[in-house]
Amino acid sequence: MKFYKELLKTAKKDKFRYHMPGHKGKKEIFGDLGENIVSIDFTEVEGTDNLHNPKTIIKDLQNRLSEIYDTKKSYILINGSTVGLQSAILSQTSPKDKVLIQRDCHKAVYNSMFLGDLNPEYIWTNFNKELYIKEPIDIEKFEKKIKNSDTKIVVVTYPTYYGICSNIEKIAEITHENNAILIVDEAHGAHLKFSNQLPQAAEELGADIVVQSLHKTLPAFTQTSALHVCSDRVDIVRLESFLKMLQSSSPSYVLMASIDKAMDYMQEKGIENIEAIVKEIRTLKNKTENLFIKKEDIEEILKCNYDETKLLISLYKKGITGAEVEKRLRDPYGIFTELWDIVYNLAYVSPADSIEDIRYLFNSVEEIYQNIEAKDISEIEFEIFKPEKKVSLKDAFYLDKRKIDIKEAANKISGDFIIPYPPGIPIICPGELIENKHVKYFEKLITENIEILGIEENQISILK
Ligand SMILES: Cc1ncc(COP(=O)(O)O)c(C=O)c1O
Repeated sequence: MKFYKELLKTAKKDKFRYHMPGHKGKKEIFGDLGENIVSIDFTEVEGTDNLHNPKTIIKDLQNRLSEIYDTKKSYILINGSTVGLQSAILSQTSPKDKVLIQRDCHKAVYNSMFLGDLNPEYIWTNFNKELYIKEPIDIEKFEKKIKNSDTKIVVVTYPTYYGICSNIEKIAEITHENNAILIVDEAHGAHLKFSNQLPQAAEELGADIVVQSLHKTLPAFTQTSALHVCSDRVDIVRLESFLKMLQSSSPSYVLMASIDKAMDYMQEKGIENIEAIVKEIRTLKNKTENLFIKKEDIEEILKCNYDETKLLISLYKKGITGAEVEKRLRDPYGIFTELWDIVYNLAYVSPADSIEDIRYLFNSVEEIYQNIEAKDISEIEFEIFKPEKKVSLKDAFYLDKRKIDIKEAANKISGDFIIPYPPGIPIICPGELIENKHVKYFEKLITENIEILGIEENQISILK
């Protein structure tokens, strides 16, 4: 029983949750669902319907999602956005097809490249040195890249983990002019549709398929997601066959019930709440001395929309890193946050938060700032890494590998993804050349206490 007991212990410490899932551990959101979890943990029997052939209650819930998000058709996912992205990508392509994907996309997109034997080209985005943040997609560069490229599908992330919103309307228009399909990874944007105080949802902006993690930004259980078909360009027959192939044959009814409850919450209370929270965030940001990134700064410098529920705290220029902010918020304030890098700490806000919770967070950050001891902090030399591809993703996956110390990895070809986590976005992919500058960067992240998938006990996988 150690595992369960440890979870309960952490739940006690994690009093103010600024991380996923979006219900923030608040039982009251689910009404009597907590008491009934065991009795509704069903399999397919008379009355419970079947996710892989929905005719009654699951069909109704999918129709409910479709109505709320105003889509052609919506599907429940119980294996997260991961399975939604994989099903979308694999179903709308054939092996060897050319696809255009945002370089800083989630691992699920890269994994689909292996699974579908696809040929990816990357959409690179710049790193903004004023804000220390990745910029939105440059539309001119995107247009140049897709023209005459025979691209089958385009996959972009909207909003990013950091709340940056590329111009989906324009990207969709250009994608369609070039006879491709646009798949939007809206894992962090299931809440957008509910308020016009937030950037518009990709479902309304011309995307063909949108995949959302309901569990991230809405009060639904972990692993619950939705896939929305928003246009007639999508091959639905193929899509459904991939969903059947990749999703569990024993989908959890508890998870599906939490989607129903999350939609109830949003329609009864959540919309009003998220709007009040956004208003409060704006007021509080104006009172603090640049400790949080502001919507106006993003709009002015990056010329794009910003999802203000991604509260980015930065005390870097005041003397401490994002990782240090995370530690100081956790203890003594009991505030657990979602993500940190050298500069930022991300507090993930959802419609389940309260105005009091938001004020407590702002006050705590202000207090940390007041107590920072004077310290010199180095200028950060950020650069965009564009590693050289030596071997294709698929070949690198199957070739023999060995592990070596990170210190010896320069000039070797990577055998794995190297992914700082969170946000879970690869800096190096299998088959790419590791250079000395990458090694130095990874060593810096390790000393800053940033977890890196692909580096374990300073060992890294390379091709033999
Ligand atoms: C941008 C992005 N896309 C997709 C995913 C995968 O979503 P899920 O955890 O719902 O499978 C994540 C998860 O963090 C993500 O950050």
